[in-house]
Amino acid sequence: MEAKLGPSSAAAASADPAPKSARTDEEESEEEDEDDDVDMDDMPPPPASYTQGKQRASVSAEAYGDWNKVQAFVPIVHEKTEDQKARLTSVLKMSFLFSSLDQANMDIIVNAMVEKTFPAGERIIKEGDDGECMYVIERGTLECMKSISGVEKVVKTCGAGDFFGELALLYNCPRAASVEAKDESVLWQLDGKTFNAIVKGASMKKREMLEQFLKEVPILETLGTTDKHGLIDSLHKEMFAAGATVIKQGDTANRFYLVETGELTASKSGSDGVSKDVLNYKRGDYFGELGLIKAEGRAATVVANTSCELLWLDIKTFKSMLASLEDLMITKSAEYV
Ligand code: CMP
Ligand code: CMP
Repeated sequence: MEAKLGPSSAAAASADPAPKSARTDEEESEEEDEDDDVDMDDMPPPPASYTQGKQRASVSAEAYGDWNKVQAFVPIVHEKTEDQKARLTSVLKMSFLFSSLDQANMDIIVNAMVEKTFPAGERIIKEGDDGECMYVIERGTLECMKSISGVEKVVKTCGAGDFFGELALLYNCPRAASVEAKDESVLWQLDGKTFNAIVKGASMKKREMLEQFLKEVPILETLGTTDKHGLIDSLHKEMFAAGATVIKQGDTANRFYLVETGELTASKSGSDGVSKDVLNYKRGDYFGELGLIKAEGRAATVVANTSCELLWLDIKTFKSMLASLEDLMITKSAEYV
């Protein structure tokens, strides 16, 4: 999927009439203090609904029109060594959220990010808190956990090149999950203003495309919208060339797959060693559920007939997020030949 910049890109932001030159770290922290004062003094009072309930209400463009006009996006500059710039650039190129930014916007992001190291066990984001920034992972393993019926469950495990903490910025709502470092983690932190100005448009577009795709997956029909939003965050995307083997019969099962594009075929070898095609897959279909549900080796081999884009969930996420669909999947597998 391509990631063209949406209306909230730097191009849109720089169309604003009064651009200031980029700020340095010190100017930034001084201005942040001033900004805080300006925010409090100059903003019209929030509508009553703003302070009620959990979701932060969106701010009316009419009420805030004049105030909005003076909020030009000003690129932030946190000075970096050449080594930091090189490490950060290669991390951003691994991340689907940033990899397709043009050079000008990539430079703005590289300048704005701040390197942070967290020890194992540190909780970086707490579910329900307000969110002011998001993170990209250079090194380390982190777990995203959600409280489900009062019990905290891991919904995603993230590693190098993954990002987290974008949802609160995208939807202007409280943190949807907690995120904890499992080992010492090197992260790059991006402030919400820069995220909104440069990345939000492209990110929203990608999420909308995935949301549309999930609506086309019959097995997910009964999942609620919130569960689907969560699922989008937990899906990993992988391309396979025509002829590639995605799953091999007998292997240990660790992923569940959805077909976004392309065609694949499942085949089964009998005790005589003869392989027989058993099922074909196209957009919206799924496979790889049996091994996860039954905790058995893969029951068939799945090969790509054309180049494919597959979305996959790891076993932990499948077990926590799609548990409600397991019975339905088992019922459907009774139709397998
Ligand atoms: P945010 O809500 O800002 O903070 C917590 C982050 O956890 C969230 O953004 C996502 O980046 C990440 N996350 C990963 N998986 C999920 C999930 N299933 N539901 C919600 N958030 C998730
Ligand atoms: P799993 O056993 O995890 O990995 C191979 C997958 O092939 C399996 O899950 C099913 O999703 C799929 N499959 C398709 N047809 C069959 C079949 N006849 N028997 C078993 N698995 C099948």
